[in-house]
Amino acid sequence: MSGRSAADRREELVGLYRYLSDCHECPLKDTRTNLVFGSGHADADLMFVGEAPGFHEDRQGKPFVGRAGKLLDQLLTEIGLEREGVFVANVLKCRPPDNRDPLPEEIEECKPHLFKQIELIEPRVICTLGNFATKLLSGSPQGITKVHGRAQDREVGGRAVRLYPIFHPAAALRTESMRNTLRENFRRLPELLEEPRPSPAASPPLAPHGPELPEGVDGATQGDERPPQLDLFG
Ligand code: URA
Repeated sequence: MSGRSAADRREELVGLYRYLSDCHECPLKDTRTNLVFGSGHADADLMFVGEAPGFHEDRQGKPFVGRAGKLLDQLLTEIGLEREGVFVANVLKCRPPDNRDPLPEEIEECKPHLFKQIELIEPRVICTLGNFATKLLSGSPQGITKVHGRAQDREVGGRAVRLYPIFHPAAALRTESMRNTLRENFRRLPELLEEPRPSPAASPPLAPHGPELPEGVDGATQGDERPPQLDLFG
């Protein structure tokens, strides 16, 4: 834990949202409709990280609002959780054209922003959905088929977290057996959330912290101007 208050961290998360709304670093800004920053509780114990926004997410500026999102909601409900109590983000914040796979350079460009989100939200458990999020946050080339359903301790965004790789809901929409596996893996989540945080020593450090925000984007210095989607983070 950073020792910073939840209110301070939320404020900085809002600042990161503002900063990325105006991000010109990534070529995907030219083809996206909306930034899909992520949404949910800014101080959530549980965070989900998917791959990249699809058509509906791009239109609405919110993650997992299509069919895969409906399955995610249903699985959350089955274990007594709801979307508002968790935080949902993606490896990429902008939709790749035609829903193609993220390119390595796009992942590199966007990675610091995901790490910053993790640093600010301070989740106890991060569920990586599918291959891209799992490989990025585990720092290992091992794919989701091998590692799904097995929690692993890692240091991400400067702190120890428990990664819990599971299949991507979009993949689970394709076959019943994958849906069953995903459902089974979901059932372990309440127990994982009860466990103590992993100790830093047990967690191999991963990639760098996110970028420092430029001055004036920390939300405290923006006067009364509110970003249009502040309801994205509770
Ligand atoms: N798939 C993802 O990986 N993320 C979304 O937000 C929607 C679908």
